[in-house]
Amino acid sequence: MFKLDGKVAVVTGGAGGLGEYCALALAQQGAKVVIASRTLEKLQAVAQKMQAATNSEVTAMQLDVTDESSCDNLVKEVVRKYGKVDILVNAHGMNAKMAAADIDFTKWEALFAANVKGVMMTCKSFGKAMIAAKKGKIINLSSVRGIRGTDGGNTAYGATKGAVDMITRMLAAEWAPYNINVNAIGASVVLTETFKKTVAPERMQLLLSKTLFKKFATPEDIAAACVYLASDEANYVTGQIMYVDGGLTAVG
Ligand SMILES: NC(=O)c1ccc[n+]([C@@H]2O[C@H](COP(=O)([O-])OP(=O)(O)OC[C@H]3O[C@@H](n4cnc5c(N)ncnc54)[C@H](OP(=O)(O)O)[C@@H]3O)[C@@H](O)[C@H]2O)c1
Repeated sequence: MFKLDGKVAVVTGGAGGLGEYCALALAQQGAKVVIASRTLEKLQAVAQKMQAATNSEVTAMQLDVTDESSCDNLVKEVVRKYGKVDILVNAHGMNAKMAAADIDFTKWEALFAANVKGVMMTCKSFGKAMIAAKKGKIINLSSVRGIRGTDGGNTAYGATKGAVDMITRMLAAEWAPYNINVNAIGASVVLTETFKKTVAPERMQLLLSKTLFKKFATPEDIAAACVYLASDEANYVTGQIMYVDGGLTAVG
């Protein structure tokens, strides 16, 4: 189960953070993986490392998710190289914490451009190829902040993730006739290097106290959900936000 041999996967934001873990896990399961974001040198270094660590082909391609022609070009390039695309993982994203009364709308718009328009644009570009092929799997990285409020200046980010959740459900409904599964992963706090460096110990304790398991997610927890949703074993799952959150949304 969960093998991805013969599949072609594209992971946006695949050269760092959760995207890198998802891309590696997909490659380990046998998929040919394209990692895509704006910084080509970083992508190339990560692709080389990933290819050496797996038996799969991992390729780096440049992408700006806020630019529709860049998204369309990526699809063309992937289809030219591999003949098809089976899986899209939207793992790009950004956050900018701002107290609600001090929201800077330039930053707000940048967040919505990357997190919302960027998800819809890649879905549109890749969706057209998947509609033509009458199959595909799309996995959007969302967050518990799409459904649960919190303090700490997360209004803009939470609003983008609520939008990603609805894009996921709407596309699932619209593209089910084409055999395309569209799901999201609702991650809670994941213990990444950036998180360890940027979040104060008191805030960490508060966040931990809201989690049933009293521990943070690992990047591998998220990557495992990604592999499942990308696999044939998830063929009957669509329009879902799969919460990998240690139970946070079960009780919050
Ligand atoms: N980390 C967590 O605890 C957590 C929790 C819940 C949800 N999530 C979600 O999971 C996703 C990944 O989070 P992360 O923490 O792993 O993020 P990250 O380490 O900050 O990586 C985000 C990636 O997005 C890419 N990116 C940003 N803007 C882009 C653009 N315009 N076009 C193409 N690529 C772009 C960046 O690559 P370039 O700079 O090369 O473009 C970067 O590699 C996000 O959607 C985030 O909201 C994360």
